[in-house]
Amino acid sequence: VSSAAATTAKTVKADAPIKVKQAKYSLKFNAKNYTKETLKLEGQAVAFRAYRDVVYTAKPASVASESMSIFIPEAYFQKGGTVNGYTAKTAPIFLPNGVGGYMPGESKEPSASERMSGGANASLVALSKGYVVAAPAVRGRTTVGDDGKTYVGKAPAFLVDYKAAVRYLRHNRHRLPAGNTDRIISDGTSAGGALSALLGATGNSKEYDAELRAVGAANERDDIFAAMAYCPITDLDHADMAYEWMFNGVNEAYQHSAPMSPLLPLNAGSMPGALKVGDAVVPLGPGPVVQGGSAAADRPDNAPVEDSSAVEMTQAERVASDQLKALFPAYVNSLGLKDRQGRALTLDEDGTGSFADYIKSVYAASAQSALDAGEDLSALDWLTIENGMVKDVDLAKYAAWATRLKAAPAFDKFDRSSAENDEFGTTDNTPRHFTGFSLTRDKEAGATMATWDDVRRMNPMYFIGQQDVTVAPHWRIRHGAKDRDTSLAVPALLALKLQDSGYDVDFASPWGKGHAGDYDLDALFDWADGICK
Ligand code: DHB
Repeated sequence: VSSAAATTAKTVKADAPIKVKQAKYSLKFNAKNYTKETLKLEGQAVAFRAYRDVVYTAKPASVASESMSIFIPEAYFQKGGTVNGYTAKTAPIFLPNGVGGYMPGESKEPSASERMSGGANASLVALSKGYVVAAPAVRGRTTVGDDGKTYVGKAPAFLVDYKAAVRYLRHNRHRLPAGNTDRIISDGTSAGGALSALLGATGNSKEYDAELRAVGAANERDDIFAAMAYCPITDLDHADMAYEWMFNGVNEAYQHSAPMSPLLPLNAGSMPGALKVGDAVVPLGPGPVVQGGSAAADRPDNAPVEDSSAVEMTQAERVASDQLKALFPAYVNSLGLKDRQGRALTLDEDGTGSFADYIKSVYAASAQSALDAGEDLSALDWLTIENGMVKDVDLAKYAAWATRLKAAPAFDKFDRSSAENDEFGTTDNTPRHFTGFSLTRDKEAGATMATWDDVRRMNPMYFIGQQDVTVAPHWRIRHGAKDRDTSLAVPALLALKLQDSGYDVDFASPWGKGHAGDYDLDALFDWADGICK
């Protein structure tokens, strides 16, 4: 790490004049600063060099957050060394993010025993398959700047950092011992899936330039080759409608009754996984739970806590559910989407229509794969199965079976108590709305909304198909068939919009999976190899 003189973090506002700070960190990669390490994967040694604490912005708002680790397979340091058909020159760069719950993202270190899967994590598998791994930490909604005063990680800081990491890699393409910067592949789960999708959808957009300049990001392209997203919690300004389109009529919710504090004490810390409230450190990790028998341990770090018992929705929440559900068809229809056969995907006022049929077909394909694998699905009343074939899906019964995690509205809470309200908060940590619907129903005088600029810049849907944006050509999107942290409609609309715009999209809803990610690493890297080779 270069000179670590105290940095001055600064409030970053799109509309405020950007003061030029002195660069504190060199953007030159130091290829000599590594340790040699080995981890075991299924009995095989995976040897690599680790370059840690690489600060990837010249003027970081938070040094710890704007640092990354780079891991390079040892084979590439031997003359003519290859792994999985890749060489030092051709090796793709895997760019995982560790974001969950819109909290600060930690660097995804290679690990042989990750909490969610119990096995090797994506970074270690990537190394074993010859990928260079660049694992940035990024700011999140509780990150306090190095000035100790300002919340510097609110929207869209996580994306600014992810972009800055891409730019750093490009800036150092001739200094990096290995890795092809035209083959950068992002990966994330949940809020991290949203981040991965944003990186893929907003390549080279000028809309983030002011913030990128403020942190001293390298002046390089920030488009990527492929984005992989598991259960992306995205399209936040329409996610409430989508949720009620799916879960209206299911009137009990399992989200923990005490949501995360919207008013974190200043200096709550940028420590992922815990909030300091008074003197107590309150873990934000998964709670005690269950849904269809799945253990809470499967949930990503910092996902909202599930409870084992349900709470009835109030009358006001039911009214909101009806109103939000009624708003969804106009949104879907405004997108003008088509399926692969060119048929329009739309919704009637009552929420039925070809888009609903499309969503049914995604669940049907998922169930069919389970049937084909020999699973007995006869107990599921939402499926009509004849002669081993899924013939129909009843979405209302599906919703009752899946259960509702979140009461209405699911994301933009009237009292601004959600993780997303906090993500859209001010630099002094006041949570804000991001939909007019919830702003106008907030009882507190003075409740405010995030700027349209920030709402827009947090939603990949607005960038796909825009001029002056380089969208990643390849996409892999997954959302488990029993995930109800957001509606399947959300990743489906993202996938369809990409597909209709001519991008290569592999979208599916894996059977038996809830809110989780990186659960099919062999398939994931087979897909990545398929587009890279
Ligand atoms: C995550 C999950 C949520 O349900 C949500 O609203 C935001 C983030 C997550 O797991 O990252």
